[in-house]
Amino acid sequence: MSNSASHSASQPRKILVTSALPYANGAIHLGHLLEYIQTDIWVRFQKSRGHQCHYVCADDAHGTAIMLRAEQEGITSEALIERVSRDHQTDFARFGVGFDNYHSTHSEENRQFSELIYTRLRDKGHIATRDIEQMYDPVKGLFLADRFIKGICPKCKADDQYGDNCEACGATYTPAELIDPVSAISGATPEVRSSTHYFFKLPDFADFMQGWINDGHVQPQIRNKLLEWFESGFNEWDISRDAPYFGFEIPDAPGKYFYVWLDAPIGYLASFQNLCEREGLDFDSYWQPESDAEIYHFIGKDIVYFHALFWPAMLHGAEFRTPTAVNCHGFVTVNGAKMSKSRGTFIKAATYAEYLNPEYLRYYFAAKLTAGVDDLDLNLEDFSARVNADLVGKVVNIASRCAGFVKKLGGGKLSAHCAEPELLARVIAAGDAIAEDYEAREFGRAMRRIMELADDANTYIAEAEPWVLAKQDGREQEVLDICSVGINLFRQLMVYLAPVVPTMASDAQAFLQLESLDWESRHEVLLNHDIAKFKPLMTRIDRDKIDAMIDASKEDLAEEKKMKESAKGPMTDDPIADEISFEDFSKVDLRIARIAKADYVEGADKLLKLTLDLGGEIRTVFSGIRSAYAPEALEGHLTVMVANLAPRKMRFGVSEGMVLASSNDAGIYLLEPHAGAEPGQRVT
Ligand code: MSP
Ligand code: ZN
Repeated sequence: MSNSASHSASQPRKILVTSALPYANGAIHLGHLLEYIQTDIWVRFQKSRGHQCHYVCADDAHGTAIMLRAEQEGITSEALIERVSRDHQTDFARFGVGFDNYHSTHSEENRQFSELIYTRLRDKGHIATRDIEQMYDPVKGLFLADRFIKGICPKCKADDQYGDNCEACGATYTPAELIDPVSAISGATPEVRSSTHYFFKLPDFADFMQGWINDGHVQPQIRNKLLEWFESGFNEWDISRDAPYFGFEIPDAPGKYFYVWLDAPIGYLASFQNLCEREGLDFDSYWQPESDAEIYHFIGKDIVYFHALFWPAMLHGAEFRTPTAVNCHGFVTVNGAKMSKSRGTFIKAATYAEYLNPEYLRYYFAAKLTAGVDDLDLNLEDFSARVNADLVGKVVNIASRCAGFVKKLGGGKLSAHCAEPELLARVIAAGDAIAEDYEAREFGRAMRRIMELADDANTYIAEAEPWVLAKQDGREQEVLDICSVGINLFRQLMVYLAPVVPTMASDAQAFLQLESLDWESRHEVLLNHDIAKFKPLMTRIDRDKIDAMIDASKEDLAEEKKMKESAKGPMTDDPIADEISFEDFSKVDLRIARIAKADYVEGADKLLKLTLDLGGEIRTVFSGIRSAYAPEALEGHLTVMVANLAPRKMRFGVSEGMVLASSNDAGIYLLEPHAGAEPGQRVT
């Protein structure tokens, strides 16, 4: 995407690279890892080429979700983000993701940059304020984002639907349109309240953004998507949230906080600033408008708007330079489907690392990555076949076939002359095309080229048959020559693979006793060179380990459920509702009812249709208890119903009342009176 094709390896470039900042309320999983591995490979490649390349990241630590999660765990937000940051960094380190700095958006640097960018935008007239109406939880004292409101769908009347769309009928609406809305946090009935919000006036930057997305900073598929969005028009962006909120207060706006997505990308600046202070780098020479440095953001396709529209507009408006390119990737699927907790394919980084070598995954991702935004499938069959065939069968095999003879016949020293100069020259020359592929993020193509070279090396050794010659008298030098060529080829391959498998490369470097495996180092052929004793550099993937990892991922899910329940405690999470008078209570006509009949309702997977006998009077009630009861198990039982509830028209018919039940995560429990109660009796 960049102007990088014009750079040659001989001019060192100044490059700053970022990956998206993971949210500080959950564990790193294999989906995340695609991004961090892709970025890390690219960064390691740039460093191997001798460029000055810095890779920074941070935890994205602000927002309501993190605040609520901390509360649920009974700890402060600060304690939560502290713990998660440590876990994230442990996970990244295990997978060889070599950040030069890992910071947090909840940092002093980030506060300063957020205030600076905001005040610059404000002083130039790019901030507007406006009162907006929003649902408010009076018990929690919180404005509620749509996903924290539940209620009955205004279209199909399905129960228990989230604030902005119905899972049953697919309708979209505003939370204010929900019937009987409740706060998903406290269970209270939300009120509509008005408050002042701060907006970033994106339309001020329409021309700038249109120019920017047409200027080669994004991939073609992304450009097309953005243009579509552009055509449909866009609004000012709401960048404030009311207290209580875990974040930074907006200058001169007490009680108003920056929305998490405002200060999240600014975290890139904050993390880099933090690195600059530590290493004495010049921040401005990267971020001032005339900078000659290159800046790349690697992100997933779900967060394109923030990075390819809002972020450049913010930077431009605040007199910072904009990124060289935003490099977007697709999503990880496992065995052809979205990662799933119940199938055990929602695999956490830590769980994977307990069972399998992280470099298997780095190689597999590399082998399948392109510069595009297509999703990437981790097919576990293919994964083990590919890694075993390529890394173990092709690459490690070269060294293991040759090392023994070098030890035995050369005393561990490679031959003094090169028996196959053309072959070696060809493999060295192939480095240019491989470098172009790495540069263009066509890692899959790079891996294919490297494996073709590995095939050539294996063919050479197989045809030369050193093990046959070794049994013949007087051919020791020939055997040593062949195996020395083999070791040299292995070395070239490790230079090419080092960005992908850094641990294997450093073990290989120790075996080869080399100072460096940098890209340029491959030009020097190793003659008369001592190598160390060979140890297996990588072993085959064991199918049992994969199965064990899947089983453990299913257990992770069970653990999570338990955690959630114990965080709630034995009580329900609904607080006791406000006090009412006896008069209020007596308005509710509760009656004993006999369930005369119960039926499934076609097209409604939560409902049962109950025919209730109130001592002669028959009522039809639709009740969301299907998950807990088979219809025939209910027939004949007594229960309690609200007999004077206004009839409600539902998609499947009219519901003439309501039966009483309680519920927890394990099930639903219909109320049933002791024996002797009779249908139609009033319950008081
Ligand atoms: N906190 C925001 C990013 C702020 S950047 C200023 C966020 N965090 S995230 O934890 O949800 O995701 C972090 C990165 O991982 C994103 O780029 C996201 O696209 C990527 N991925 C998360 N799940 C993924 C897959 N299943 N597959 C591939 N990438 C995925 O978004
Ligand atoms: Zn609906």
